[in-house]
Amino acid sequence: MTGPRLLATSDLHVNRTDNQALVRDLHPSDPGDWLIVAGDVADKVADIRWALALLADRFEQVIWVPGNHDLWTPPGDDVQLVGPERYDHLVEVCRSLGVLTPEDAWPVFAGHLICPMFLLYDYSWRVRPDMAGLSVEDALAVAREAGVVATDEFLMASRPYDGPAAWCAARLTETRRRLSERPADLPTVLVNHWPLTELPLRVLRHPEFSLWCGTTETARWHVEHDAAAVVYGHLHVPRTTWEDGVRFEEVSVGYPREWQRHDLLRGPLRTILPAPEPEVPDPFTAWALRQGARWESVR
Ligand SMILES: [Fe+2]
Ligand SMILES: [Fe+2]
Repeated sequence: MTGPRLLATSDLHVNRTDNQALVRDLHPSDPGDWLIVAGDVADKVADIRWALALLADRFEQVIWVPGNHDLWTPPGDDVQLVGPERYDHLVEVCRSLGVLTPEDAWPVFAGHLICPMFLLYDYSWRVRPDMAGLSVEDALAVAREAGVVATDEFLMASRPYDGPAAWCAARLTETRRRLSERPADLPTVLVNHWPLTELPLRVLRHPEFSLWCGTTETARWHVEHDAAAVVYGHLHVPRTTWEDGVRFEEVSVGYPREWQRHDLLRGPLRTILPAPEPEVPDPFTAWALRQGARWESVR
């Protein structure tokens, strides 16, 4: 027993049977372990509730942030709420389970302020060089031409906001306000489903997908807000990177066909605190390089 840890996972996608089995096997190793679930739990509210209830029962504290899949309104879901109303509903589900969300007071773990955030995306990351400088409309047209369109465009509504970029702008304003009020003496752990920086996007098999992967507005937040670690998912590329001396942990499990290939080299739960000894390169990166770095693309 090593004492309580802050653990993280994401992209559990429990609407897949193999992933459901994987979640059933998730247990704390210390009764005091906390667990961050960084979005994309499932597509339907009942599945999200099932997974979070199971985890909330086992871990001392579960912290959830929404991913794009959690915000979809798929046909056949009993809950047909869209956009911010759907998010508010999921926050209520979490509260009924004792799970913390971006709408709750930020908790402290081992001397670190844990900041669950919901920031969405605004199509501003342009990894494909010829997309830089294009309007959102033109960039989306280029992606469409390349055959790359995120399913969000069909299943995630933003009403009453005029699209995800407007919703994202509102989330940025509110989150900046909260960050400006944080206690100055605590280092942070920044948690968001979408990456905060560009570096992790450079390995996307389809660079057009960067449009749906966050916002350039957060590119310096890890420095400006004294981050000890940044936790995110969405890319299904579960690796550790370092920028400006800050550890970035992509903690996604991903779809069975993805994790069965790399065999979840470090398991489905990543240790965030206490900070583990760095493995350089991390086992996933080493594996991917052996494969010729044929990374999975974002979903
Ligand atoms: Fe995902
Ligand atoms: Fe995602």
